[in-house]
Amino acid sequence: MKHPSMQIIFEEHSALTAMLRSLSLMVKRGPEPHRDNFFQVLRAMLFYIDEFPERLHHPKESELLFPPVLKRNPDLAPVIAQLEKDHVREEHQVRELQHLLLAWELLGDSRRNAFERALETFLQFYLEHMRLEESVVLPQAQKTLSVEEWKALDDAFATNCDPLTGKYPPGQDYQGLFSRITEHAPAPIGLGD
Ligand SMILES: [Fe+2]
Ligand SMILES: [Fe+2]
Repeated sequence: MKHPSMQIIFEEHSALTAMLRSLSLMVKRGPEPHRDNFFQVLRAMLFYIDEFPERLHHPKESELLFPPVLKRNPDLAPVIAQLEKDHVREEHQVRELQHLLLAWELLGDSRRNAFERALETFLQFYLEHMRLEESVVLPQAQKTLSVEEWKALDDAFATNCDPLTGKYPPGQDYQGLFSRITEHAPAPIGLGD
């Protein structure tokens, strides 16, 4: 049986994957005919990625999952080092994407290509990051972590309550942000067409 925190990590990964796919689909369709709405929704999505996974998901993996896995499985040192580096890089990349999006919105289509290329790189990079965690780190954690270590992870991840997993209502602060995303973004994350 999966530990609750492991279940949550998988759910948060699939919510993020859905978000990234929606984002990429929207960008491929382009900003017309509802240009203002298009940029508003994309901004909201990137803000979400910066707000949720970057603040609530990665730091807990870095603090509570990677160290005990490394302690019990020293041969995984290169993988863990790579994942740690990714966490730092992801944060920079999402800020960079926010900036590139603003350039496209304010300066026009000459900046579209740069945003599209950066988004594609980010998408591939992020999917590979989650794949490594799911296929290498979590199976080893399942085999080797102690009851206390799982308890610390379960307690920490239980408070995330990411509304994009579809299991929790958004907190009051986030209600506006989430309805903006889910009402206007295309499937798989939203109801927009
Ligand atoms: Fe991670
Ligand atoms: Fe993760």
